[in-house]
Amino acid sequence: MLNAGSIIKCCEINGIRNDNKYIDHINCMKEEEYDMRHLIDPKDLSVEETGDILALAERIRDNMPAYSEVAKGKKIATLFYEPSTRTRLSFETAMLNLGGTVIGFPSADVSSVNKGETVEDTIRVISCYADIVAMRHPKEGAPMLASLYSRIPVINAGDGGHSHPTQTMIDLMTIKSRKGRLDNLTVGLCGDLKFGRTVHSLVKSLSRYKGNKYIFISPQELKMPDYMIQDVLDNNTDVYKESRQLESVLPELDVLYMTRVQKERFFSEDEYIRLRDCYILNAEKLKKAPKDMPVLHPLPRITEIAADVDKDPRAAYFEQVQNGVYVRMALIMALLVLTDPVTGKKII
Ligand code: NCD
Repeated sequence: MLNAGSIIKCCEINGIRNDNKYIDHINCMKEEEYDMRHLIDPKDLSVEETGDILALAERIRDNMPAYSEVAKGKKIATLFYEPSTRTRLSFETAMLNLGGTVIGFPSADVSSVNKGETVEDTIRVISCYADIVAMRHPKEGAPMLASLYSRIPVINAGDGGHSHPTQTMIDLMTIKSRKGRLDNLTVGLCGDLKFGRTVHSLVKSLSRYKGNKYIFISPQELKMPDYMIQDVLDNNTDVYKESRQLESVLPELDVLYMTRVQKERFFSEDEYIRLRDCYILNAEKLKKAPKDMPVLHPLPRITEIAADVDKDPRAAYFEQVQNGVYVRMALIMALLVLTDPVTGKKII
């Protein structure tokens, strides 16, 4: 939940100018604005709330027709300043499945950002049109900044290389359905751990469940950022280790999370090309992995998972896409404080 302390901390982490403009604004916020829930970081939801939302996503999966009118008359605005296929369309599908409607823009080029409008002004305008907003932005911290000026709940749909909390909820739902638990797991995260926002959010979230361990598999140039190792994992080498190799650690894993090298965050094309194919999982390599080790990937995949893995029952990436719709339906209901027609209760 937003409060001045967490906002100031977030400004610092994200390098947003923590100047008087924002402090004055925070001090002037009304109580109901403080209390409104946004989803900027996975830890904005407690472990218990995360569990409640995942349980709702499962109920939706098992009984979709019961939820078809829950958000009738509500609108979601999808503000995407960065390319997306799955995330934007799955937010829109989620709202349509709930009986609501959709407005928004798919790229900064077709909005007033092109004319120089600030995120603060855009969100004040959108607050007059919609009931909830999903925002993707190339700048770390932009959705958090938007949430300060918004009169409607803001969902971070990915901010730069920082965070992607709704993808994390999807990953949790998929891991839980494949492994039956979210604790005592050894999770291998492979690929671009420096810029991959999905891995940052997932590790943040999994670190709140007991007994989880991580193997970070990346080239030296794309290793997990220091702030993740220090702030999230407390430098505790009992819970994580680093590997430059994928094959040798496969037998140790309960879950494998593959990621693409994030081309758009590189300064040099040559450097991207040099690192792009650093890990390629294929059916032959997968023989070394446990029979019940799901392979997750937030997608899009480029070359890091060969097509011959798709028919292996351990491939869970298209299941993630399907779970994305249920999770986003559940999140929209939770943040709009709608009543679950099946239980007759609010979600969080
Ligand atoms: C991810 C993202 O945008 O961070 N995609 C997604 O939302 N499913 C991963 C990626 O782009 O590599």
